[in-house]
Amino acid sequence: MPRRERNRKKTNRQQKEKKNPVHAPFKKIALLGFRGAGKSSIARELSGRWQSRVVSLDREIEEKAGMSIEEIVKAGGWQRFRALEKELLNTISETDEEIILDTGGGIIENADGSTSEEKIDILKTRFFSIYLHVDDDRILRRLQKLAENSSRPPLPGGREGLKEALQRRKPAYHEAASAVVEISDVHPPDAAERIYQLLKNRTEAGRKNQSQHE
Ligand code: S3P
Repeated sequence: MPRRERNRKKTNRQQKEKKNPVHAPFKKIALLGFRGAGKSSIARELSGRWQSRVVSLDREIEEKAGMSIEEIVKAGGWQRFRALEKELLNTISETDEEIILDTGGGIIENADGSTSEEKIDILKTRFFSIYLHVDDDRILRRLQKLAENSSRPPLPGGREGLKEALQRRKPAYHEAASAVVEISDVHPPDAAERIYQLLKNRTEAGRKNQSQHE
């Protein structure tokens, strides 16, 4: 099929799905990935397809604390921020709602940079967690551009600290995730389409597998 025709069909389908959102294949989906990976934009794209509401963990933390992340870190250090992050991740995971959780880049860590097995356990058992992978150079370039007008508190150690966190966090994202999606080469709408197809194929394969055993 010619590309233009294929794209037209894809757009028609996407528009139809936006008007008639269906249940997501998993009640709770969490998007994981480093700062600047595009988690928030991709979560918004996905929520148009499904009935799921986007929940931003960072916004929930700010609401609970009545301050911005920057202020939380200034007043109580990363310790306070990570404690609130853990508490709210747990609370949100226990609700009955269909959600797409937009997590912060450090969701898999404790304040001292060690891996948080507790948060990873929640992400693994109560969510279908997806690691959005973007290659290192691209992430660092993006973050450099964003740095001037960003309200994100900087990670300890400046640019070297950022690079170090990127390497340190990768195994933890893999540990927490049920799937990894490569999105280095695409913009948020196409990244969302990749995730959508992956989940569709997974659930179809699961259903086939089940019927073979019946
Ligand atoms: C953090 C990333 C931020 C936010 C907080 C800590 C991190 O979220 O949770 O500033 O440790 O990398 P984004 O990944 O949405 O920027």
